[in-house]
Formats: sequence, structure tokens, C-alpha cells
Amino acid sequence: MATELTEHSHNPLRDPRDRRLPRVPEACALVVFGITGDLARKKLLPAFYDLANRGLLPTNFALLGFARRDWGDGDFVSLAEKAARDYARTPWRDDVWDQLAGNMKFIPGSFDDDDAFDNLAKTLKDMGHTHGIQGNAAFFLSIPPAMFPVVLQQMQRTGMADNDESGGWRRVVVEKPFGHDLESAIELNTLVDDVFGWRDVYRIDHYLGKETVQNLLALRFANTLFEPVWNAHHVDSVQITMAEDGGIGSRAAFYDETGAARDVLQNHLLQLLALTAMEEPVQFIPSAIRTEKLKVLRAVTVPEDLASYAIRGQYEQGWLAGERVAGYRQEKDVPEDSSTETYAALRLGVETRRWAGVPFYLRTGKRLPRRVTEIALSFRKAPHLPFAKTDTEELGHNQLVVRVQPDEGMTLKFGSKVPGSMMEVRDVSMDFLYGETFTEASPEAYERLLLDVLLGDAMLFPLNEEVEASWAVIDPLEDYWAGAQPHSYRAGEWGPDEADEMLARDGRVWRRP
Ligand code: BG6
Repeated sequence: MATELTEHSHNPLRDPRDRRLPRVPEACALVVFGITGDLARKKLLPAFYDLANRGLLPTNFALLGFARRDWGDGDFVSLAEKAARDYARTPWRDDVWDQLAGNMKFIPGSFDDDDAFDNLAKTLKDMGHTHGIQGNAAFFLSIPPAMFPVVLQQMQRTGMADNDESGGWRRVVVEKPFGHDLESAIELNTLVDDVFGWRDVYRIDHYLGKETVQNLLALRFANTLFEPVWNAHHVDSVQITMAEDGGIGSRAAFYDETGAARDVLQNHLLQLLALTAMEEPVQFIPSAIRTEKLKVLRAVTVPEDLASYAIRGQYEQGWLAGERVAGYRQEKDVPEDSSTETYAALRLGVETRRWAGVPFYLRTGKRLPRRVTEIALSFRKAPHLPFAKTDTEELGHNQLVVRVQPDEGMTLKFGSKVPGSMMEVRDVSMDFLYGETFTEASPEAYERLLLDVLLGDAMLFPLNEEVEASWAVIDPLEDYWAGAQPHSYRAGEWGPDEADEMLARDGRVWRRP
């Protein structure tokens, strides 16, 4: 069973809450279902190599791949080696790879194949002796949600999901999308929790694994500087942007069913909103942090006037970085009449004493001018300026911008006197850049999250209730949009005009990061 604070050091002098030293999980196995998919190749397998390279995996760490392929262990090792060489963050070291590869196993089979699951259960049992994993195993479901029921039933049937039967810990990792709407999310959550028990379910929203996102908690709760102004008395509005210059790549089938609101707003952006707006947790432990995030998500309100404040768009062909790019409907495998949105912008409220009246503007889109994710707090203008109007023409709102990616860091924007004999106040900025301040490079989100699964640290994983509260925000939009065509925008532009009009209606403009 997972505990609030997992401590694997037996050093009696060490405070179990001291999280500065690297923690290494106990001997364990991780089984990946869907090992040949994009996520496994581009993110999971490289992350395991990087963790091993950083000395963060136990010597007896076994990686098992499960897929419908007529493969032996060697084929799996080759696939994993290519993935790690192509996508790992840290330099290649043969000795690290040899150690990891020596403990990799492939289990061939389809999800309805009882023999294959019996084989997997037996392999895990045998590893108790050969690898000393003592029943400790995590299962990563890197498969379409429609496959969850059959895989979970197999795990139940074979006793693999059962802590008591295995004598060690058993955990399951589920990737987004967590359902398609509130109803399907509840169904999915019930199913997974029935088989594993809620404490052993780890839902990955990889944005929570990003350093800059975790830093929001440090920024807000380790400092005294920001708290006094972090509320409706001082904040005029908040903009949360996740823009991508990339298109949908080879994911047409998934994306056309999903769209920008379900793909990004429902999870990444609402989690960023929750971390920005939450109250201080009573302790830095998973339950306390999740409780505060959940309170915010439940306090989120959707505007009544959805026509004006919920805008979606779809990109048409255009130019990006000097290259002509196709429109969404011309992408491979996208239906010619698709009404799926590739851009969504929305105004939300957070009805709490701290935030009532402050609009939170969220936007995300593909094929926008650049890849950037940021949270920008715009502060109210001074109630009175003792300068002549012309002196402050170049003065905007004071702003605090948390740059999630790229150029990870923070910018504080404020007015300053332009040197000279006249009095002219203009916006200037002060910058904090991770890359210049710290020598350590930030780990990839998946490194952090996979390690936390093996350690049993649930801090960065959203709860069922958070997922459900987020769907309760998105469902009304999807109902409103159903059957209608999205607005259009040219690839390489910042979304449809209607999104600019939405802010103009409120007397504001979108930032151009
Ligand atoms: C995923 C979405 O969750 O996040 C993708 O499904 C998106 O559509 C991706 O491209 C972006 O992640 P990151 O870490 O590159 O910002």
C-alpha cells in the first residue's frame, strides 16, 4: 500500500522528510503494455535509460515489454536500444545500457490471450527469486483506453493486481486521455480503482513532471514576496497559454476524435490553473496538495455566454518558419469535413474569496507561430498616477510570467524611468533563467514521473476527483460546440480573430510570447 512519504533509507540519522538526496526505488519490475507505440519509444524507454544513467534505478530493475509481436527478448532489447539512442537526454554509456538490457524481457501476446497473461504472471513470480523483486511491480498501460477493461480483467484473473497475493507492492500507471467526458471518466476510474485500489493508481499528466511546473509551488509557498499580491485585490487577469508550432504529426486518428480542448485544456491547462490558484497546502505531502488543487477545480466556473467566451479554431494552410504547411483537413487521415478544433480559448472564473472576479484566460493550439507554454499574471494598474498622461503612455500592466517552456524561467515586467532629462516611464523586465542560474539540467518529465511511480510518491499524479472536476468544466463546452464548425486561422498565426475579439470585449489583449 502506498504511504504518504516513502523513505527507503534506513539511516536512523536521516530525517525521513529530507527530499534533497536522490532516492532509489527497491528492486522491482515495470511492465509496459503497448511497448511498440510512440509514447514508449519516444518517452518511456529513453527515460528508463536516463534514470539508469543517473544511478536512480535499483540494480535489480526488470523492464518487461508486452505486445502482439512474434518477438523474443533480443528483438525487444533492439527496439529499446534504438529508442534510447535516438531520444535519451543523457550521454550514451555502454555499461549502463548493458546492465539495463540484461534485465529486459519480452512477453508476446494479445490482450485476450489468457496464456500470455499467465506467462507474464509466472515471469513476475520467478523474478521474485531471480531478481529479488519480492513481488514489487508496476504496470504501465500505454494503450488506448478502450483496451483497459480487457487488460485489467486479465490482471485481476491472474492475481497480478493484488498486493496481498504478490507479497509486494502493485501499481498501475494510466496515461491521459482519462475518458472522453465526465461519464466515461467515472466509468474508467471505477474500473481501474476496482482492480487496483485508488492508492495504487498513478494517472500521468506529464505537465506535472516538468520542473517549471513544480517550481510554481516553490515560487508561491517558499517565498513571502508574491503571496500578498496573489489575489483579486492585485491581479487583474491571468493568461495561461500552451502554444505549439507543430501540427498533429501521425496522430490523426487519435487527434480527430479528441481535439484541442480534450487533449490539452482538460488536463495540462486546468492543472496549471489549479497550481496557480490553489491555497497553501497544510503540508508538502500528496494528500494536502491534491486537496487544495481539487478545491480550485471545483470552484472553476464556465461563462454563461459561451458564444463569446469559448472560442475554437482549426488551422488552414499557411506559412511557418518560412515553410508552407498544410491545413488540418489536408493532413493525412483527417476527414475532409472534420470539425475537430486544433485551437481552443476560454475564459474561466474561480469562485473563491481569493479569485472572485479575476478572469482566467486559457488557450492552446497547434500550428501557432511558436512553441511556448507560460502562465502570466497581469496586475491591476495603479489607482492613481502622479505623472502626466504622456509620461506613462508606454507603461502597461505589471506582469509576472512563469515560462514553463522553452527558455524555462520567470520574467517580472514593470515600469521604469527612461534615462534622460524628461520623465518617461516604460516597461522593462527582470529575468530569471534556469539555464543560467543552475548547473544541473532539468530532467525530462517522464524521468521524474516514472521514478516517482517506482518510489510510490503520488505527489505529482492527479486524483480521480481532479480528473472528474476537470471534465465537469469541459463537458459544457463540448456540448455547446457539438455539430458546429470551428472558426479558422492560418497556420503560423495566433489563432482565429474571434479569440482576439474575446479579449477585446473585456478590454484586454493576448500576450504575444
Ligand atoms: C500531449 C498532447 O499531452 O502534450 C500533445 O497529447 C501535445 O498533443 C503534447 O503535443 C505537448 O507536450 P509538451 O511536453 O511537448 O509540451
